[in-house]
Amino acid sequence: MFASALALTAGVVGGAALALRAAPPGSSSAGQDPTAREQGAGFERFVLAKPAPALDGRPARLEQATQSSCNECHAAIVDEWAASTHSQAWVNELYQEDLEGRKKAESCHGCHIPAPLHALPDLNAKPQPRPAQGAEAWHFGVSCESCHLAPDGALLGPTGAPTDAHPTRKHESFVGAGSNALCAACHKTTVGPVIGIAKDFLGSTAAAAGASCVECHLALVREVDDGAGGKRAVRSHELQSARDPAFLSQCFELSAEREGEHVRLRVRNRAGHRVPGLVGRALEFRARSLDAKGAELAKAALTLDTQSYLPLGESVLLEVGRAGARLEVQGWRHDPRLDDPVMFLERQLEPGVNSGAR
Ligand code: HEC
Ligand code: HEC
Ligand code: HEC
Ligand code: HEC
Ligand code: HEC
Repeated sequence: MFASALALTAGVVGGAALALRAAPPGSSSAGQDPTAREQGAGFERFVLAKPAPALDGRPARLEQATQSSCNECHAAIVDEWAASTHSQAWVNELYQEDLEGRKKAESCHGCHIPAPLHALPDLNAKPQPRPAQGAEAWHFGVSCESCHLAPDGALLGPTGAPTDAHPTRKHESFVGAGSNALCAACHKTTVGPVIGIAKDFLGSTAAAAGASCVECHLALVREVDDGAGGKRAVRSHELQSARDPAFLSQCFELSAEREGEHVRLRVRNRAGHRVPGLVGRALEFRARSLDAKGAELAKAALTLDTQSYLPLGESVLLEVGRAGARLEVQGWRHDPRLDDPVMFLERQLEPGVNSGAR
């Protein structure tokens, strides 16, 4: 379903959608940096902004990150991770507030301060917490060891590059679609305010065809020697997400369809799962039908939230009213951490006759 939706994108309004896809000033664009965009057959990768923008309503980075024992040799990665919600999964105020008054708060910690996942019988098992020292103490949230440390002390990674510093081993959970199992270990379960959206993706044709979460959420940022005389691209440990307007705008394919005298807006989900993917978030589309002189003929709005989310690969129609020369569309994101909604897209669409896309 996912793959065919993308094929339709290319066939119907692909050109227009690409041309209108805008990145904010200062962010990189596909043309400038070859690592910013991947080539992939049958699956259109997202263009990622780098670095990812600051976290909504949180510290820009986890202050204590430099105390990580990995910092001495992997400083760039530690720095990226320090600016991700993974490193802040414990210090997150919303998390700490949510724990208050809960009888079995320990049951929550398994994904917020996880012991090494590779110590579990397999990645489908329930993540277990590291010993917590009470709500006052800080922790490295989802830490380097949570994802990389094997029970025998080896550090598992995508290549297993040898080093005297510590034993390493190549592991499938860091290679291509194999990494989906690692992400899903914590993202497939619906618990607290969390929606297990990884399940959507794991069942998609895109995942079956080898696509992965990291292709959309971890940007390719630098090149290193591949050990065989060539170069290979390395991904950032920052997480690209809805808080980045340039990233979020790519989530939606928009088209204005004319039916007789009326115009309607079609919004299609291009993400790897339902949107929005977290309780409390809402995405609002405001559409205005305008005549050639810019006078308003009709307007309407549509909100996607936890109850009325847009499933993977699907689209929703918004009846706007009298058709004019163009349809002006704005997308606004509502986040409980922010006082005001953030505009993530603004587009002018020309109403076309319904092309039969669905
Ligand atoms: C199976 C793993 C897992 C368990 C267990 C878990 N969480 Fe989480 N939690 C997550 C993930 C994954 C996210 C991030 C979801 C996202 O950003 O879409 C998250 C995010 C959160 C957030 C941040 C929401 C926000 O709006 O920023 C809160 C609060 C939270 N969890 C509370 C809890 C509570 C309370 C429990 C125990 C009842 C719990 N979690 C147990 C995986 C888990
Ligand atoms: C949520 C799980 C997760 C966490 C937490 C995490 N990593 Fe990774 N790491 C990955 C994945 C997935 C890859 C492979 C990315 C790719 O596809 O290239 C990776 C790749 C790497 C690599 C190999 C980079 C290369 O040369 O290709 C190193 C080294 C590394 N991580 C170190 C760290 C360190 C140090 C930390 C803590 C600061 C950390 N990781 C935290 C998941 C994680
Ligand atoms: C004394 C330096 C040093 C320290 C400390 C160190 N590493 Fe490494 N690590 C290296 C070197 C060198 C390599 C091989 C080249 C590379 O991938 O950067 C490596 C490789 C890795 C790999 C394998 C990458 C792959 O391509 O498969 C992972 C994962 C990793 N380190 C994680 C960590 C984590 C997590 C820590 C902290 C617990 C850590 N390292 C501490 C130097 C170090
Ligand atoms: C050990 C559990 C765990 C694993 C493994 C894990 N995550 Fe997360 N992830 C979390 C938690 C917990 C949060 C929310 C933290 C918070 O909001 O404080 C989160 C948040 C996120 C977010 C939201 C970022 C934002 O800024 O809003 C994205 C995207 C994400 N993870 C992607 C991934 C990907 C991709 C992988 C696989 C490489 C992965 N996660 C692996 C636990 C995990
Ligand atoms: C085709 C690109 C794509 C793929 C593949 C993808 N995502 Fe996402 N993801 C997005 C977009 C776009 C958003 C922002 C839309 C939204 O508001 O939920 C997002 C949002 C998220 C969020 C944050 C939800 C929120 O509202 O804060 C998490 C967590 C996440 N994805 C995890 C994953 C995991 C885990 C996988 C793999 C199982 C995955 N994603 C696969 C594009 C993708």
